[in-house]
Amino acid sequence: MYRPQEDSWLLEHAFGCAGPPPDAKVLDFCTGTGILAVAAARAGAKSVTALDIAPRAVLTARLNAWSRRLPIRVLRGGLGVARRLAPFDVIVSNPPYVPAPSGAHDPRWDAGPDGRSVVDPLCREIPELLRPGGFALVVHSEFTGVDTTLDMLRAGGVKATVVARERIPFGPVMRSRADYLQHRRTDSAADASVVAIESKAGTETEEVVVIRADRPEHTR
Ligand SMILES: C[S@@+](CC[C@H](N)C(=O)[O-])C[C@H]1O[C@@H](n2cnc3c(N)ncnc32)[C@H](O)[C@@H]1O
Repeated sequence: MYRPQEDSWLLEHAFGCAGPPPDAKVLDFCTGTGILAVAAARAGAKSVTALDIAPRAVLTARLNAWSRRLPIRVLRGGLGVARRLAPFDVIVSNPPYVPAPSGAHDPRWDAGPDGRSVVDPLCREIPELLRPGGFALVVHSEFTGVDTTLDMLRAGGVKATVVARERIPFGPVMRSRADYLQHRRTDSAADASVVAIESKAGTETEEVVVIRADRPEHTR
C-alpha cells in the first residue's frame, strides 16, 4: 500500500487551493488509500469516483470512505473504466511516476524506463475525460519530465501550467535509483531531458510538481 506522503499532500494542498466546485463530479485516478477522494468528498463534491488497479488499494480506499461515512465509489480499474464513467468536472491523480530499470515493477511507483508509462496515457486521455470547463491536477517528479507533460496536455487542446512545486529529499526508492538515473543519461546523452536528470541526481533531492490542465468551455 502506498502510504500518503509529500506528493500526496502537495496534490491535496493544490486541490484545496483550486477550490473545487461544490457540485463537481470528481475522479481520483490512482487513488491508493483514497486520500484525494476523501478530500474531494469533504469539499462537497456531488459525486466522487476513486480508481486503482490494485485490489488492496481498492479495499483500503473503501474502508477509509466507509469509516468516514463519505459517499465515495471505489472501483478497481484504470483508464478504460475512467473512459466509461466520463466526463468529469475535476480529475486528481498521483500516478506511479518513478523511472524504473527493467525488472523493477512495483505498481505503487514504478513507471517504466522514463517514468511515464501511466502519465503518458493519462495525459492523452485527460482532454476527453474532462467536461468543458473542467480541470485536472496531476502530480509527478521533475525526473518524469514536466515539460513533456505540459506539451502533451497542450497538444490535446487543454491549458496546462505548473500550480505547485516542492523540493524534497530523495526517499528510499529514489535513492535506490540514483545510479540508474545516471546510467540513463550515459545511454542517451543526446536527450536533453535526460541530461537534466544527471545534474539533479547528484543532489539527492527532487522537485515534485502539480500540473493543472484546464479544458476550455468552448472548444473543438
Ligand atoms: C503513487 S500511488 C498514489 C496513491 C494516492 N493517490 C496518494 O496520493 O497517496 C499510485 C497508485 O496508483 C495505482 N496504479 C498504478 N498503475 C495504475 C493504473 N494503470 N491505473 C490505476 N491505478 C494505478 C497503484 O496501485 C497506487 O495505488
